[in-house]
Amino acid sequence: MAHIGIFDSGSGGLSVLREIRKILPEQRYIYFSDNAHCPYGEKSAGYIIERSRAITEMMLSEGAEAVVVACNTATAAAIATLRAEYSIPFVGMEPAVKPAATGTVTGVVGVLATAGTLKAPKYLNTKGLYEDAVRIVERVGKGFVELVEAMELDGPHAEAVVRASLEPLLAEGADTIVLGCTHYPFLLPLMQRIAPAGVSFIDPAPAVARRLLDVLRTNGIPLTDPDPGVELRSSGDDTTLKKLFELI
Ligand code: DGL
Repeated sequence: MAHIGIFDSGSGGLSVLREIRKILPEQRYIYFSDNAHCPYGEKSAGYIIERSRAITEMMLSEGAEAVVVACNTATAAAIATLRAEYSIPFVGMEPAVKPAATGTVTGVVGVLATAGTLKAPKYLNTKGLYEDAVRIVERVGKGFVELVEAMELDGPHAEAVVRASLEPLLAEGADTIVLGCTHYPFLLPLMQRIAPAGVSFIDPAPAVARRLLDVLRTNGIPLTDPDPGVELRSSGDDTTLKKLFELI
């Protein structure tokens, strides 16, 4: 049946689905969490390409008209291959360095992302466009994906894990923090509590949702479906996926 496919290494891409449904509420979605193979952050590009192909094949066999790669790491590793191999449109995540570079007052932008995203040419190219104008400091959100997959969004342990990656960016003067992994917006309330007033966090998901709308229009794909809704699927245990879906 026709649908828009959305996938991530886990439940993080629900932060993107949340924004997509705000502007395309009458569409039909299949959300796939590849949590049996999560996290993607430290895996090789080849491995992530293989997983992305397998998920795309599954979605195509069920009538996907477009696929959203709701994962920065998979976008960086695999979206060029997917676009070359399949004829449907793919929408991926863009690290939101541009709005951060425009918005910073201190001139220091912090980027939180996975190791895979931070070393990928896609991110390095984007960063290269702005690093003459602003200073860009980065940290892997170490342990963040695991916290979200464990539904541990708050509490002393979660706070210690988040502080360990966020505080070094704040200490370097960053007043604008890019959330470069789709899991991280679920830790935003905690991050906002840790960061001093005046620090802002940028989630690229609303821009990705607007991009999907454009892509559907350009490709003549209907914006509504007679049977709207979300079907959740996963390659592993789906407890967190279902619980987080209740929160979006
Ligand atoms: N949610 C992912 C991202 O946006 C992947 C995190 C992971 O599996 O390491 O990068």
